[in-house]
Amino acid sequence: MSSAPPPVPAGAGTEKNARERARQLDRDDELGFLRNEFNIPTKGQIASTRLPEGASADTANENDTSKCIYLCGNSLGLQPKRTQTRLTQYLSTWATQGVQGHFKPLDNSPLPTWLDVDERAAEMIAPIVGGHVSEVAVMQTLTANLHLLMSAFYKPDINKRHKIILESKAFPSDHFAVETQLRHHGLDTAKSMVLLKSEKSADNILTTEEICNVMEQHKDDTALLLLPGIQYYTGQLFDIPTITAYAKQRGIFVIWDLAHAVGNVELKLHDWGVDAAAWCSYKYLNGGPGCIGGMFVHEHNGAVTKAITDERPEEGYNHRLAGWWGNDKKSRFGMENRFHPVKGAAGFQLSNPSVLDITSLCASLEVFGLAGGMGKLREKSLRVTKFLEEQLEGMGEAERKLFRIITPLDPKQRGAQISLGLDTGLLEGVMKELERRGVIVDERRPDVIRVAPAPLYNGFEDVVDFVEAFGEALRVAKMERDTL
Ligand SMILES: Cc1ncc(COP(=O)(O)O)c(C=O)c1O
Repeated sequence: MSSAPPPVPAGAGTEKNARERARQLDRDDELGFLRNEFNIPTKGQIASTRLPEGASADTANENDTSKCIYLCGNSLGLQPKRTQTRLTQYLSTWATQGVQGHFKPLDNSPLPTWLDVDERAAEMIAPIVGGHVSEVAVMQTLTANLHLLMSAFYKPDINKRHKIILESKAFPSDHFAVETQLRHHGLDTAKSMVLLKSEKSADNILTTEEICNVMEQHKDDTALLLLPGIQYYTGQLFDIPTITAYAKQRGIFVIWDLAHAVGNVELKLHDWGVDAAAWCSYKYLNGGPGCIGGMFVHEHNGAVTKAITDERPEEGYNHRLAGWWGNDKKSRFGMENRFHPVKGAAGFQLSNPSVLDITSLCASLEVFGLAGGMGKLREKSLRVTKFLEEQLEGMGEAERKLFRIITPLDPKQRGAQISLGLDTGLLEGVMKELERRGVIVDERRPDVIRVAPAPLYNGFEDVVDFVEAFGEALRVAKMERDTL
């Protein structure tokens, strides 16, 4: 474990009673009980370079047993305590039932039979994204799902619609996915890829107007718009309903990458008329690293209009790359070589899903169930993130000069995350000092840190702890930089 950080005098502008106020806000928080549903690592654990002895993460016997300040749910959500319980139940099922686990219900098990895990997961995730159960599928991973959606809905015609509009600073995986889709169709990326770049913002905070103007400009030959619900770097939340409606009026199909939005902000994908969307589950959904992702396909796009017994089964549904798990359950095990998809998003599945993954994800979705809906979580999140903004703004003048808030200040244009642009040369020192103080946030080079209080397990006092540590980290990092 690294040595304790040296005491640094508090900044002049730090609010004196912030901690008392935060504690009171935490006491009044009706969702505060959810924090106890999570394994919050201790400061000793995050400084340790050893696996804890024994089976449970709780048994670590490290020096510093106070909880770390974890504000990194935008990258990897913390582990719900019930994940271990559910995974143990899954492993016991496998150990004692073997293949029977696929179809044999066990009286005292809370888990569905493996043949039905995808349906249970769809039921649990549907309210989180605001879709009908038939419009969502828990499957694959985010980038794979973007490709699958594009394979189904991006059918370019070079003489008509062939362009894809996306941000110029899209998450690289989205950029690669679009680029390779275009090449896959034999298209020239220079002609078919339209990159959204803000005229006004160096950070590429795009206004709805800017996005709509580009769509208007390319409306005759654009096939697809791919945007993130929340931008990973800036934390900007886009106006999904307005942008979607504008695109659809111009015949442009819209896919949303909801990696940073799902489990973070309220989504009403069905009501907003979103064509399709995909997400991962390791951030605000706390499924675990690399856990199974999901997709939404609006009922307009997932319909199957012909009966399975049709002579021409290739008609009656939107084409996609298919596998047996997307085939109607009634004939899936008949082993016929005639694909007929299940109606809705489930018809886009390829393989039988990882039960290990789905069990892990569903353990966390149980906790979302306890929260009483995304509306309540978002309401708390708005207050905690506003508190974070206020505490950052109230820092001493000397520290306040060393960073800028990149994320829009309008709460309607952001989720839980606030991105901070640091003065040149401070990033490494700040991250090192935060870590020494038991604070986990993440960095995006060259000079951004992302700070995200996740409303399921973070509270107001976490914010005060962070801002105090951040002030100290800035002072130390500046001192070190300036003496170099
Ligand atoms: C916005 C965004 N899109 C795509 C991805 C890639 O996700 P995956 O590795 O699950 O495909 C990420 C990963 O963090 C992301 O943040």
